Amino acid sequence: MLTIDEAFRKFKSRLELNDKEQQNASARQNEVRDFLETKFAVDRSFLTGSYKRHTKTKPLKDIDIFFELGKSERHYRDQAPEVIIDAFYTALVEKYGKPAVRKQSRSVNVDFGVVADVDDNTDYRVMSVDVVPAFAAGNDYEIPDTDSGKWIKTNPEIHADKATAAQQAYSNEWKGLVRMVKYWNNNARHGEKPVKPSFLIEVMALQCLHGGWQGRFDYEIQSLFSTLADRIFDEWADPAGLGPPISNGMDKVKKERARSMLQAASREASLAINLIRQGRNGDALKAWRALFGPKFPLS
Ligand SMILES: Nc1ncnc2c1ncn2[C@@H]1O[C@H](COP(=O)(O)OP(=O)(O)OP(=O)(O)O)[C@@H](O)[C@H]1O
Ligand SMILES: [Mg+2]
Repeated sequence: MLTIDEAFRKFKSRLELNDKEQQNASARQNEVRDFLETKFAVDRSFLTGSYKRHTKTKPLKDIDIFFELGKSERHYRDQAPEVIIDAFYTALVEKYGKPAVRKQSRSVNVDFGVVADVDDNTDYRVMSVDVVPAFAAGNDYEIPDTDSGKWIKTNPEIHADKATAAQQAYSNEWKGLVRMVKYWNNNARHGEKPVKPSFLIEVMALQCLHGGWQGRFDYEIQSLFSTLADRIFDEWADPAGLGPPISNGMDKVKKERARSMLQAASREASLAINLIRQGRNGDALKAWRALFGPKFPLS
């Protein structure tokens, strides 16, 4: 039978990006770019966000693609964020059809109609992308934010550097733990995601995983859930110090819900650890799978 350590390692690798997925993501990026270039002056496009940092979980959806717009599109920057979001939306509807395209506060989502199976597999295909219009601003970018009605600053490189530093300080296990908790967050049994945006999990993990890797996935995950629950009411600034706080995505009621679900997850994890102490390995595997979902292996 699989040991708990083996099960977590398998789980971790199932949440890793593989070559086929990266090929599909890059093909989708090129496809969207080739089309948007017929509508806008695009200086550059790049895959970014958690996808680029390897902190995205599975199934692969909402992969962020920044579209850096050229000088001739600068007039959009002088208008309200809705204007560029509307323009991208209208363009993308032309190619992908209305049912596949959705406006979000900082991006336009394009759904490719890929459906995940019961094991959360998509045959290595990306389900959707977030198309983000962006203007260069020095070393940073400015992107529209229709929630606040303002253009906000962001810097994907700073976020990537912080994640890399955290990964190194944690014996290269930090990103794997972040993907696992984000996978828990996506578990359909919750209904609505407990933690929103899921980027908040990564931002909190920059501080909530400290002291170094202790060598056991089950202990690390249990203590991470517990610390996330304890600190979900804190204010969590943009790690790059540029955009609005990442913790602005939830109101008090949503934070209370997140806290109680994180506490429940921490308790479930403690019970699973206890099952191992009792020598009940099979029951422990089942407990972890119930907590995380189908990508946690039973064998
Ligand atoms: N409040 C913010 N201020 C500045 N930059 C932000 C802010 N929120 C998000 N970002 C940047 O935009 C990127 C995309 O945002 P998004 O919410 O998709 O997060 P993500 O890290 O990609 O997580 P997910 O796995 O949920 O897609 C983030 O990775 C981060 O670099
Ligand atoms: Mg994203």
